[in-house]
Amino acid sequence: MLADDWWRHAVIYQVYPRSFADSDGDGMGDLPGVISRLPYLADLGVDALWLNPFYASPQNDAGYDVADYRRVDDLFGTVADAEKLIEAAHALGLRVIFDIVPNHTSSAHAWFVEALATPPGTGIWSRYHCVRGRGADGQEPPNDWLSVFGGLAWTQIPDPASGDPSGWWYLHLFDTTQPDLNWNDPEVWAEHERVLRFWFDRGVDGFRIDVAHGLVKTEDYPMSGEQPGMYSLELDTPVLPQWDQPGVHEVYRAWRGIANSYDPPRAFCGEVVVPTPESHAMYLRTDELHTAFNFHYLRTRWDAAHLREVIDHSLATAGSIGAPCTWVLSNHDVRRHVTRLAPVESDGSVDLERGLARARAASMVMLALPGSAYLYQGEELGLPEVIDLPAEARQDPTFLRTAGEVIGRDGCRVPIPWEGTTPSFGFGPGEESWLPQPDFFAELSVAAQTGVADSTLEMYRSALRIRKDQPGLGDGELEWLDSPPDVVAFARGSITVVANMGDRPITWPATELLLASSPAVTFANGSVAVEPETAVWISGRR
Ligand code: GLC
Repeated sequence: MLADDWWRHAVIYQVYPRSFADSDGDGMGDLPGVISRLPYLADLGVDALWLNPFYASPQNDAGYDVADYRRVDDLFGTVADAEKLIEAAHALGLRVIFDIVPNHTSSAHAWFVEALATPPGTGIWSRYHCVRGRGADGQEPPNDWLSVFGGLAWTQIPDPASGDPSGWWYLHLFDTTQPDLNWNDPEVWAEHERVLRFWFDRGVDGFRIDVAHGLVKTEDYPMSGEQPGMYSLELDTPVLPQWDQPGVHEVYRAWRGIANSYDPPRAFCGEVVVPTPESHAMYLRTDELHTAFNFHYLRTRWDAAHLREVIDHSLATAGSIGAPCTWVLSNHDVRRHVTRLAPVESDGSVDLERGLARARAASMVMLALPGSAYLYQGEELGLPEVIDLPAEARQDPTFLRTAGEVIGRDGCRVPIPWEGTTPSFGFGPGEESWLPQPDFFAELSVAAQTGVADSTLEMYRSALRIRKDQPGLGDGELEWLDSPPDVVAFARGSITVVANMGDRPITWPATELLLASSPAVTFANGSVAVEPETAVWISGRR
């Protein structure tokens, strides 16, 4: 029997369905593919999986443009497959989280299709942000808000009778095919309750909430003074009128009530991108979301002082309201952390060998922090970002909307290698994969790493096993230990975690070496020698 508060300390594996496992050889991952690989996840030792959207969608933003929240896209399978997946995962002791997208629908959603046939500003347009433009004929956009994917966040609506520009505009904080919903409309609330219940009734254990901080916009749509790049995962970014408005919290109070009406209660994890840990913590009040991704942690540099500060601040703010922290280093929107943490050479290239060493150390630190942790598929294989995808293969709307100026997120979404030496490396039965896989995936495949003592995969397996055996590791307090300034050292119950982020080897007293991120670590005469760019879990206190 799994505890109701499993979400406080779970390790959750993010499955990006397009790129995890393809059962039918069309080059696109699918739900039967995920089902076939569930034993791998159970064996890896994670507690749950989160799947990115697989609902009916034109796929202009890889499924974050949902046309029907209660249908599975033909690309991925059927609702029956989703039910089978939940059942099979539960049989293996794994929880399952789906992804809900409440900020916007696809322009192919029945509501928006109906709206386009309706005079702007009337009827069903109330479900979207349909606003009169500025200037005499409304030919200028209502304000200066920007799309996260580049360009303006407004598109002019054609007059349904004549097809001419109507002087009315709709808001899309992402792609033009992702119109933002208007959460002032009661039908928007009612429909989301139906969607939540549809999947909760089928046994899903919770939802990750897409763009959870975006649902409510400042009334009257004021100018924001926004410049490109101001909206980001960085700390202390400006507060903008289209994000993080107080009214959004009412939505989550209502949703928490729905989740609590189930037995066992269902759980939420918000994608909350806000400027400070304090505003982040507001979403985690006891009657709102259970957890929310900690992007301030994701943005930490390879820098001990910075890491300590972000960990401390995150624990203090979440802790002040009794909420757990949720740690994450990679996902489908950011450069894989092997590449992100790699030192940049003078010619602009990155040293991926050192990047991998740092990534392994960083993951060991993350898996020892109090709270829950998210792993992104392929990070357990040490995959780097695929940086040289040809332009014609790229599909991210960011790349397309900025004419290639922003390279986009395809490089972390390449289908993962399972086995073999040629594409698709066991991803599917044939050679197809929707993004091309590089040759170096052969040596990083699951099969190539399984049973290999020092492989990244076996390091993750060992870390997750130790974490399971030591319940205190996912929960409890963190105690900082005195250390040189470029070393991160903390105690978690009987386990000590030491990460050497400096450039000289250090030694640390220990009674046992439990796990090291590198085979270069040695343990002799009651002390471990920790090389730079390496982390260890040891028993014994100094
Ligand atoms: C979130 C998703 C991202 C998507 C965007 C719009 O940030 O993680 O992949 O493009 O929302 O839905």
